[in-house]
Amino acid sequence: MARVRGLLIEGGERLIGEVTISGAKNAALPAMAASLLLEGKTVLENVPQVRDIETFKTLLECLGAKVRWVSKGVLEIDASALTDITAPYDLVKAMRASILVLGPLLARAGRARVSLPGGCAIGARPIDLHLRGLEQMGASITLRHGYIYASARKLKGTRIYLDLPTVTGTENLMMAASRAEGVTVIENAAREPEVEDLAELLGKMGVRVEGAGTSVLKIEGVSQLRPAAHRIIPDRIEAGTFMVAAGITRGNLLLRGCRLDQMEAVVEKLRQSGIEIIPQDSGIRVVGPTKIRSADVRTLPYPGFPTDMQAQFMALMTLANGLSVITETIFENRFMHVSELRRMGADIRIEGSSAIVTGVPSLSGAPVMATDLRASASLVLAGLAAEGRTTISRIYHLERGYEALAEKLASVGAKVQRVEIDEGA
Ligand code: UD1
Repeated sequence: MARVRGLLIEGGERLIGEVTISGAKNAALPAMAASLLLEGKTVLENVPQVRDIETFKTLLECLGAKVRWVSKGVLEIDASALTDITAPYDLVKAMRASILVLGPLLARAGRARVSLPGGCAIGARPIDLHLRGLEQMGASITLRHGYIYASARKLKGTRIYLDLPTVTGTENLMMAASRAEGVTVIENAAREPEVEDLAELLGKMGVRVEGAGTSVLKIEGVSQLRPAAHRIIPDRIEAGTFMVAAGITRGNLLLRGCRLDQMEAVVEKLRQSGIEIIPQDSGIRVVGPTKIRSADVRTLPYPGFPTDMQAQFMALMTLANGLSVITETIFENRFMHVSELRRMGADIRIEGSSAIVTGVPSLSGAPVMATDLRASASLVLAGLAAEGRTTISRIYHLERGYEALAEKLASVGAKVQRVEIDEGA
């Protein structure tokens, strides 16, 4: 019998107190990748200490960069001398975002060899748009033995239209364009705050980026970038998760260090469901309702409702007074939490890409299994509200992206502890 690490939650506690929101993992990863663009140091602040960041740190070290935590949340990357151009299978398999080194490596070293990510728990997730964009900039790309081999003596600025506003695809192309000859225009670019944050960092490195936060980005390449220091934006998904935690437990939380302007769609939906979200001088006050109201949600690229909050919102809707329809339009297989939520008494039916949730008066604690990062978060939220004990196994998924989640929850009154769980009898 295998023993895996898990969480034990005794549900039913109202969460009350203050929580500080960490830096955004999904902004820190491209920022770390951008450090490869220059022969010098990059200092990043507000970097969350989570597994994905450690994986990316290992990847940068494999490439020859020197990476060290200077203090809590402060990461210094010195990419003065690169010694390798390969992102190996083991690391890419552990984290798809490793693909983010492709653009900067190619631009800096003229060559890159990156393992193909393959599918993942939430769908096929192709990277064709990354590759096509790089080819349009003059790269020659072949796929052999599970690896992408890319080379280009000099990348050239061009006009690229993305069929879909892919987030990491946009980031990869922005980084490649930063050292390309001439101007690159990316149309139908992703507008996520994390893309804007990368644009800001590239700007500090001396690259002219126009249109960040809009669907048309214009990047003027430079031959040399300069060292930069940058503070990573707060994690809007972590903030949204804590907002749901306050809502689902009828709690009262003060969230410090988050930005409402980057999470308007989420705030709007949570307010519709009855959660009060009130900006105050010291942070964002979030007060849960006595009765949760149902609301429909459709995931969309930013500024729409983020797919990374879909599972958590569904946990909230399982306890709403009515029916809600949650439609997933970004990933084809992102309802893995549904069967686990059902085991806790939720009433959810899947029809195509929609989940039809009929609110129930209460959930009951049960042993459940985490399947991916955001699905795990939804199970934690359900466990906080459920009657009795919930054990969640495979919390390594959670540790990929949430900094000290169990500790933060415990600090505001949740009864949660780390445990070892027997699995697969
Ligand atoms: C990023 C986020 C992830 C989030 C997702 C959507 C990071 C590290 N990860 O992932 O947390 O859930 O955005 O907001 O920032 N697609 C293609 N071809 C491509 C690339 C993407 O067809 O070449 C499709 C995907 O299958 C998906 C859609 O485009 O259906 C959006 O995916 P994308 O924005 O690329 O997600 P990621 O950047 O991988």
